[in-house]
Amino acid sequence: MEVYADYAATTPVKQQVIDKMMNIYSTHYGNPSSIHSIGRDARKYLDESRHIVAKELNAKSSEVIFTSGATESNNTAIKGIVYAHQHKGKHIITSKIEHHSVLHVFEQLEKEGFDVTYLDVDEEGLVSLKQLQNALTDETILVSIMFVNNEIGTVQPMYDIEEVINNSNALFHVDAVQAIGHLEVNFHEFNIDAMSITAHKFGGPKGVGALLLKEGTALKFSQLGGEQETKRRAGTENVPQIVGLAEALKLANQYRDDNNVHLMNLKNQFLVSLQERSIPFELNGSMTDTTGHIVNLYFPFIDVETMLTLLDLSNVYVSSGSACTAGSTTPSHVLAAMYSNEDRAQHSVRFSFNEAMTEQEIKYIATEIHKIYHKFKEEV
Ligand SMILES: Cc1ncc(COP(=O)(O)O)c(C=O)c1O
Repeated sequence: MEVYADYAATTPVKQQVIDKMMNIYSTHYGNPSSIHSIGRDARKYLDESRHIVAKELNAKSSEVIFTSGATESNNTAIKGIVYAHQHKGKHIITSKIEHHSVLHVFEQLEKEGFDVTYLDVDEEGLVSLKQLQNALTDETILVSIMFVNNEIGTVQPMYDIEEVINNSNALFHVDAVQAIGHLEVNFHEFNIDAMSITAHKFGGPKGVGALLLKEGTALKFSQLGGEQETKRRAGTENVPQIVGLAEALKLANQYRDDNNVHLMNLKNQFLVSLQERSIPFELNGSMTDTTGHIVNLYFPFIDVETMLTLLDLSNVYVSSGSACTAGSTTPSHVLAAMYSNEDRAQHSVRFSFNEAMTEQEIKYIATEIHKIYHKFKEEV
C-alpha cells in the first residue's frame, strides 16, 4: 500500500478542476488584456473566476487580486500595507508561529527599522488575546495572524482577534491558506483588511493564489509593469490557473461539511489506532481548536528524520512540518514557540489528510509506525 498523508504541503488537482483548466488552455487562450474577441473571451473567464472567488469568500469582486500564490499574497499585503501606512506609526504585530512567507517579511521590516511584536502562543498553539490587546498602541499599523496553522492545525479565534484589532487603528491581515475547505472563511464578516489564499492547498493548481484587499485600503504595490488587476498586480493573468482556483474553491466549500466529518473521523481513528498499538506519543496542538486535516505528533522514541525515512521506505509520505523546513535539520519554529522542551521538535511528525483518504490507509500508517516503534525498542 502507498499512503500520501502530506496534504497540508500540497493536494492533487481535482479532475473537475483539470477539465475546466484544459478547456481554457486549448480553447480560451487569449490574453485578457487584448481588445479583440479572443482576448475578450479570456477576460470573460477571468471576470467570472473573480466573481466566484468573491462570492465564496464573501468579498466584492473588486477586492480580489490574483497572484502567484500565498507567498506573493503575504509579501504584497504586509509590505504594501506597512509602506503605505508608515507615516502613521512604525509598530507591527504578528505571531511566532506564522508561515515563513509572513515571518521573514516581518524580520526584514524589523531590519528596516520597524518595531515588531512577535506574539507568543500557548502549548495548544493559541495566541493570547490579552497579550495582543496589551501590545496594540496608537503606533500599531498592522497585525498579521494566520487562521489555521500549517504545522499543527490549530485554529485561532478569528472573531475575538478581529474584535480586539477593531478597537485599534491597526489593519488586519490574515493568512487563510490552511482554512479554506475546512472552515467558513468570511472576509467581510471577519472584518479583515487583507487576506491570502493559495489554490494548491484545496485541490487547485500550484502557482496561483489571491490577495483579498478591503475596498479603500491603502497599499503600496511594488510590481511594476502593465495595468493588470486594476493596476494592482502587473503581469498577464494566468487565466487557466485562475479558472482552476475558482473551481477548486467552489468545490472545497460545497463539500466542506461532509469532508470535515470524514476528516475528524480519520483523525480520531488515527489517534485510537496508535493508542491501541501502545505506541507512545503526544499530540502537538489542540484537540478542540483544530481542523481535521492536520495532526502533529511527538514520538519520544525516535528522531524525526529517521521516522520520515523509515515511513518513506514503507511508502507512507509525511513531513516534519512546513515543507520549507522539511529536509533541513532546523527545528520547527512553531513547536519551538509552543514547548520549552527543545527536543520535542526533533521528534515530531506532521500527518495531514484529505477527504479521499480511507480508514484502511490510516490503519496502515499506524501499523507501520508500530513496526518502527518495535524495531527501535529492540535496538535501544
Ligand atoms: C499557512 C501557509 N501560508 C503560506 C503558504 C505559502 O503558499 P504558496 O505555496 O502558495 O506560496 C503556505 C504553504 O506552504 C502555508 O501553509
